[in-house]
Amino acid sequence: MNREDVNLYLVGFMGTGKSTVGWAVAPRIGFRCLDSDQEIERLQGCTVPEIFEREGEGAFRAMEREFIERGHPATRTVVSCGGGLVAQPGMLDELLGRGVVVCLHASLETILERTSRRQNRPLLEAEDRFARIRELYAAREPVYRRAGSLVLTDGRSLPDVVSHVIRVWR
Ligand code: S3P
Repeated sequence: MNREDVNLYLVGFMGTGKSTVGWAVAPRIGFRCLDSDQEIERLQGCTVPEIFEREGEGAFRAMEREFIERGHPATRTVVSCGGGLVAQPGMLDELLGRGVVVCLHASLETILERTSRRQNRPLLEAEDRFARIRELYAAREPVYRRAGSLVLTDGRSLPDVVSHVIRVWR
């Protein structure tokens, strides 16, 4: 696969740093950057929690699928994917067919800490947030592991993670 003609997809659980890393990696490899959640919010004119509340998770998943299948440039783009995007049947293979997939990882404790800073994740609204994270993570772990290259973000600086992703990319 010629690296100049494809996309780089960042996947992984919520709070693993996909958006932050995506925006930092893109200029370093001369690509533009898109974030699936932000693109969906822009197109829908409302936030992800509002979409979940008004239309339900199923509708949001259909929007993610639509974004991947039709709504973004086919080349030279770093695409930061919402955490559940690859958990949908067939979506990981779809991404693997369109580019290079890098999966960011973090410990469950780090994920809890990072996702507690902002209350913008409808799937984590639970009395026992840590139990909810553990349960969702366990369900998705097989697909994240199958995604290919794994990059751990725990306790590492942004430049360090960015360099690692770029090494994998090249
Ligand atoms: C989700 C992750 C979120 C967002 C939505 C659902 C998930 O994106 O797409 O709240 O199912 O894991 P981030 O991974 O960017 O937080």
